Amino acid sequence: MMEDLAMHMLEIIMNSIGADARLIRIVITDSILRNLILMEIEDDGRGMTPEFLARVTDPFTTSRNTRSIGMGLAFMKGLTETCGGSLHIDSTLGVGTKLTASVQRDHIDTPPMGNIGAMMMQCIQSNEDIDYELRYVTDVNEFLFRTADIKEQLEGVSICEPDILLWIRSYINEGIEQAKEEMR
Ligand SMILES: Nc1ncnc2c1ncn2[C@@H]1O[C@H](COP(=O)(O)OP(=O)(O)O)[C@@H](O)[C@H]1O
Ligand SMILES: [Mg+2]
Repeated sequence: MMEDLAMHMLEIIMNSIGADARLIRIVITDSILRNLILMEIEDDGRGMTPEFLARVTDPFTTSRNTRSIGMGLAFMKGLTETCGGSLHIDSTLGVGTKLTASVQRDHIDTPPMGNIGAMMMQCIQSNEDIDYELRYVTDVNEFLFRTADIKEQLEGVSICEPDILLWIRSYINEGIEQAKEEMR
């Protein structure tokens, strides 16, 4: 069902969107030297109580009552454990949530990174008022993308215009490729 890291991250970002975040920060560390892929997703949404947080990675823990599954975090936890990493979640009610997931970069079960540009495009188009910061960090380089910078350039044109979204997708994927290039 979830074939790459981008799809797992999208689930986590959807949780942040569901928690009414206004700013979502994503840091992906892709390190050959440390044999590590680190995924950090931080939001300023409603947060969780310590009691809820303690059982939030159990399958079927959810606050949604529309569909009865609550699997996003359980899947992410399973992924990290299968791939030689770990999952950590910090959350403060009314302040926000930070999720840190790691996997071993060369682990046989670690899925490919997937399409980060497409992931970001999907996030942005779900609500144009939410801002995103994406940082893709390799051993030698770093790519930074901020919706606030784009919005400033757009002078009132919606960031959700199809042409803009498609441009963002390739801009991000090219930036990431460039950051990786110098790694080889
Ligand atoms: N970033 C977040 N901020 C606040 N609550 C969250 C966040 N992420 C997850 N949660 C809470 O944890 C529950 C479980 O999340 P998840 O495992 O993705 O299942 P689902 O999204 O299907 O409910 C959510 O229903 C929500 O109540
Ligand atoms: Mg979810």
